[in-house]
Amino acid sequence: MLNKIKMKIGLFFFFWSVSVFAVVWSDYTDEQRLRENILKDYKKHIRPVHNESESIQVYVSFIPRHILQMDERTQVLTVEGSLVMEWTDQFLTWKPKNYGSIKVFHLPDHNLWQPDIFLYNSADVGSNVDPRGDTNVLVSYEGLVKWNPPVTFKVYCPTSLRSYPFDRHTCNMKLGSWTFNSNKLNVSSLE
Ligand SMILES: *[C@@H]1O[C@H](CO)[C@@H](O)[C@H](O)[C@H]1NC(C)=O
Ligand SMILES: *[C@@H]1O[C@H](CO)[C@@H](O)[C@H](O)[C@H]1NC(C)=O
Repeated sequence: MLNKIKMKIGLFFFFWSVSVFAVVWSDYTDEQRLRENILKDYKKHIRPVHNESESIQVYVSFIPRHILQMDERTQVLTVEGSLVMEWTDQFLTWKPKNYGSIKVFHLPDHNLWQPDIFLYNSADVGSNVDPRGDTNVLVSYEGLVKWNPPVTFKVYCPTSLRSYPFDRHTCNMKLGSWTFNSNKLNVSSLE
């Protein structure tokens, strides 16, 4: 309904004053407006808290999809899956009533501040979590960010094959921030 009204006004201007501005304005959706307003002064290299001494809680879990390889000689497990991360970005909040009731929207991950989560027991120097280029994050109006990038981890996993072929293995993955301590970035596992 609102969009239709805007459109009519836009056309009205167009015919009566040949105003390009009116046409551009009528094409602007609530989502575009939100995107621009929210990213206008956003600085992605700054930890998104209003109070510097506050810690950001980051919840992390890993959902394995495929075991690509278990190398018995080197004890390295190669596993592919999604890393699920959630945190609150205090600079990404808006009032849904000002933006056509939009409560959630997608942004490319590299537009935002991201926690520098690394796999600590990695068998591969490349196992940081900035995986295959761009994925989207989901942002809610209260600043809750959900980011689930696909990752391939090579985990160093000491195993014993003594009871083969009836063996079961547990492979622990230690994930944490590379540069921040818990006073700045507090990583815990997502229940
Ligand atoms: C910032 O957070 C710290 C620790 O939670 C608190 O002691 C301090 O009062 C806060 N400062 C402001 C300006 O809110
Ligand atoms: C970090 O998170 C744990 C568990 O959620 C909590 O018990 C602890 O108080 C947090 N530490 C900081 C510095 O926020």
